Amino acid sequence: MHITIKRPDDWHLHLRDGAMMKAVLPETTRDFARAIIMPNLVPPVVTQTDAKAYRQRIMDAVPDGAAFEPLMTLYLTEATDPGDVVAAHQNGTIKAVKLYPAGATTNSASGVTNMDRVMPVLEAMADAGIPLCCHGEVTDAEIDIFDREAVFIERVLAPLRTRLPDLKVIMEHVTTKDGVDYIGETEKNLAGTITTHHLIINRNHILVGGIKPHYYCLPVAKRELHRIALRKAATSGDGRYFLGTDSAPHIDPLKENACGCAGCFTATNTMSCLAHVFEQENALDRLEAFTSLNGPAYYGLPVNQSTLTLEKTDTPVTYPVKIETGEGHVTVFDPGFDLHWRVA
Ligand code: DOR
Ligand code: ZN
Repeated sequence: MHITIKRPDDWHLHLRDGAMMKAVLPETTRDFARAIIMPNLVPPVVTQTDAKAYRQRIMDAVPDGAAFEPLMTLYLTEATDPGDVVAAHQNGTIKAVKLYPAGATTNSASGVTNMDRVMPVLEAMADAGIPLCCHGEVTDAEIDIFDREAVFIERVLAPLRTRLPDLKVIMEHVTTKDGVDYIGETEKNLAGTITTHHLIINRNHILVGGIKPHYYCLPVAKRELHRIALRKAATSGDGRYFLGTDSAPHIDPLKENACGCAGCFTATNTMSCLAHVFEQENALDRLEAFTSLNGPAYYGLPVNQSTLTLEKTDTPVTYPVKIETGEGHVTVFDPGFDLHWRVA
């Protein structure tokens, strides 16, 4: 048994830089043609000049024979120049701008503390048709971490979309039924990416029987009812949902730590995991929409010409437990069950 789909794209990916990037990039280029590259480096990718230089470093690291196009983003700060953003989009350097509420996640200290301060940039983006990728969590200390996505929708996203209905928004790594419902109510200018790991784990996987640092990511996995809603959305074929793995490598000592970093590294086995999930949901015929069709349609890009074939295997497919990066080991996401779909 096998299925052939248009080659997938990853609409949310962390590649980092330097030795780490060189080590993790082949894990993505093996199966994916393009990826939206997150700009949360230290220091972040904030200007057109930064994005061009980072893009070149990625291109220099693409393995021989691989065809891969990094789709660059800029990190929105309160000092971002609207003119630079519009020029970067017009000349093809960037495909989107990323909103990190300050303090929401890894390397988000330069993010936005007050949406009013970035209104001129967002207005220019709405006029120019530049998509805004949102890390959709509020950071207020009094908001429970499991509620931060729902409160972001209510306090930040809904008012923003009322104010700028022409702004094209991507609610990234949706983790709640609230997020799915909000996207599902919307006809225009809103889509959501869903990660591989949020289709597989709920918060029990992180906490029951001992803390599992490799399942800790942000937004944190929620209750089972939310995972079920995400599965329904991802496997629905609905064009508003597409894959953004949020594959986010951290070396083991920084994950297995008294204050461990957030991020699941799923690049290596994402397509096997997704085929498993879609088969469980009787939706293998809709895998292609999620991984290869809906994303390009929303971003206004062509679908990839090349294809990828997944084949079902009797014996489980094995993947490396860890990737060596030169900076240390990065643990590959363990779905917690045997995988029987292999990329041919
Ligand atoms: O789990 C996460 N890891 N969530 C993010 O938003 C950032 C990412 C990272 O950069 O490590
Ligand atoms: Zn991310």
